Amino acid sequence: MIGIFDSGVGGMTVARAVEQLCPGYPLVYFGDIARTPYGSKSPETIIRYSHRNTDFLLAQGCELIIIACNSAASTAAHSLRRHYRVPVLDVIGPATARAVQVSRNGRIGVIGTRATVKSGVYEESILAMAPGHRVYSQACPLLVPLVEEGWLNRRETKMILRKYLHPLRSRQIDTLVLGCTHYPLLRHLIGPRIGRRVSLIDSSIEVARSLQDYLEHHPGLRRRLQRPDAESRFFVSDSTEAVQNLARTIFGRPITLEKTDV
Ligand code: DGL
Repeated sequence: MIGIFDSGVGGMTVARAVEQLCPGYPLVYFGDIARTPYGSKSPETIIRYSHRNTDFLLAQGCELIIIACNSAASTAAHSLRRHYRVPVLDVIGPATARAVQVSRNGRIGVIGTRATVKSGVYEESILAMAPGHRVYSQACPLLVPLVEEGWLNRRETKMILRKYLHPLRSRQIDTLVLGCTHYPLLRHLIGPRIGRRVSLIDSSIEVARSLQDYLEHHPGLRRRLQRPDAESRFFVSDSTEAVQNLARTIFGRPITLEKTDV
């Protein structure tokens, strides 16, 4: 099984992309709805939660973990890779590589939670790959709660987005990294507000592509993980009607959410 975790529903955008790009691999998803958002918590707390989530997924029999949360990836990926022997993939490297590949003018914007932006992980990895580039980051702490609430088309969400994106509009960026797996759910609002000529990089799709690549290069693991008849399972630490509706919106079908406390 492939284990995927996020602080909430955002990682389901990753699970969906994995389903589409790598069919036949059953997933175990864990969304820590009871503790979301991670992005406003301290690094120690995010690391502790990430270890607990990984322990839960490994106990379900997962042999590969995807950190489907930029806040957790930017803060806890090193610690998880040091501590566990299974492969741990995350959203940041693949999204960075894509942004560098796509940008023509070398001016890249990044939006993410406070934890992700404060960690500086995107600047660091973009500049490591493309030293002359300029990176402009903007923390958008209100977006995760708005998405978790299901406010995907509300006037308030549009106003808040306009305010967050305003500083980036004057930077002549040609590429914007959606540095949070919740943000693809707001893509239809972000595109027109940042400008149609700016390419949006969806970290969910990029990590699914990197999984595909990883499995191609690890045939033994690929054979063990591939079980076309097995069903994916979706666990959450809390479940609300908004979360159930969002899961249905993301997958385009009803999803059974199993409540568990990790
Ligand atoms: N989807 C998570 C991310 O990619 C949201 C993090 C949070 O809970 O703040 O960052």
